[in-house]
Amino acid sequence: MKTKTWMQKNMPSLSGKVIAVSGSTGGIGVELCEHLAALGAELILLDRNQEKSKGLQEKLEAQFPEVKIRRMRMDLEEMASVKVAACELLKAPLDGLILNAGAYHIPRHKCDTGLDNVFQINFAAPYYLARELKSHLDASGGRLVAVGSIAHNYSQTDPEDVDFSTRAKHSLAYGNAKRFLMYSLYGLYGKQGGLAVAHPGITFTNITAHYPKVIFAIIKHPMKVIFMKPRRACLSILQGLTQDCGRNEWIGPRWFDVWGLPKKRVLKTCGEKEAEWICQTAEEVYEGMGTP
Ligand SMILES: NC(=O)c1ccc[n+]([C@@H]2O[C@H](COP(=O)([O-])OP(=O)(O)OC[C@H]3O[C@@H](n4cnc5c(N)ncnc54)[C@H](OP(=O)(O)O)[C@@H]3O)[C@@H](O)[C@H]2O)c1
Repeated sequence: MKTKTWMQKNMPSLSGKVIAVSGSTGGIGVELCEHLAALGAELILLDRNQEKSKGLQEKLEAQFPEVKIRRMRMDLEEMASVKVAACELLKAPLDGLILNAGAYHIPRHKCDTGLDNVFQINFAAPYYLARELKSHLDASGGRLVAVGSIAHNYSQTDPEDVDFSTRAKHSLAYGNAKRFLMYSLYGLYGKQGGLAVAHPGITFTNITAHYPKVIFAIIKHPMKVIFMKPRRACLSILQGLTQDCGRNEWIGPRWFDVWGLPKKRVLKTCGEKEAEWICQTAEEVYEGMGTP
């Protein structure tokens, strides 16, 4: 089925709905915002790079003259900016928050919270936002959509190294953070509804463009052909605006988690004991972030 046909069959109009998207300037974020604008949503772009964010706003406004867009600066490595954004979002009507921003193969360092930056970008800061905005979203029947990754499957959490700062391997640090994000949110929402965990499978964006130059030059074009384009890969995330995920469920491409249209399935990647520990630790990390 074509992307356009899937959209017509599966997505309602979002006219009058306000949806905030983090990482809207990224490969998936841009496509996601185009779909959301086409569905009539009002957008709040949560980005660290205001030049890119403004460029996206102008592009969307040219494409969809009716669209309403606001921008808020938010760098997930800087908790002060995350707190300001959270306070601003609390003042806005909000029907959906999509925690889409993420980073994988980046130079590692400790943030001013003392946490590894990959852990903070992919888990601690988005969890803080989810925690701060949950009642606000609940009050309006709003939804939280968190973007997970297949990589969560490759890292078992470690109480001795919560943020994986001693692990040099990017895949492990990223996988650990995504595992924290996904399982902490299952715990936070329980059976209540209003949460979806979605993932795009594998699609060619900046996050997948981290290989050494020569290898990258060789694999770049086959990758673009083999994997789904971001425009289609982001449909699972859109589906999260209409479909709940219960504990251990996620929405992603139906074939091998990599190809095809969105399908919800049950994960068997984390035992009950580990999931419980993740939830407790997430709360400790949140408490450690201090007041807004
Ligand atoms: N592509 C895939 O195959 C794949 C697979 C599984 C999961 N995902 C997930 O999908 C989501 C979107 O990724 P993508 O593929 O679109 O990658 P991308 O093109 O690299 O986009 C990542 C987005 O996150 C933003 N970001 C990175 N660090 C940030 C920070 N410190 N503060 C605020 N924003 C920050 C980027 O901002 P800038 O534009 O300023 O860099 C960008 O907007 C991520 O959560 C990723 O983990 C992607």
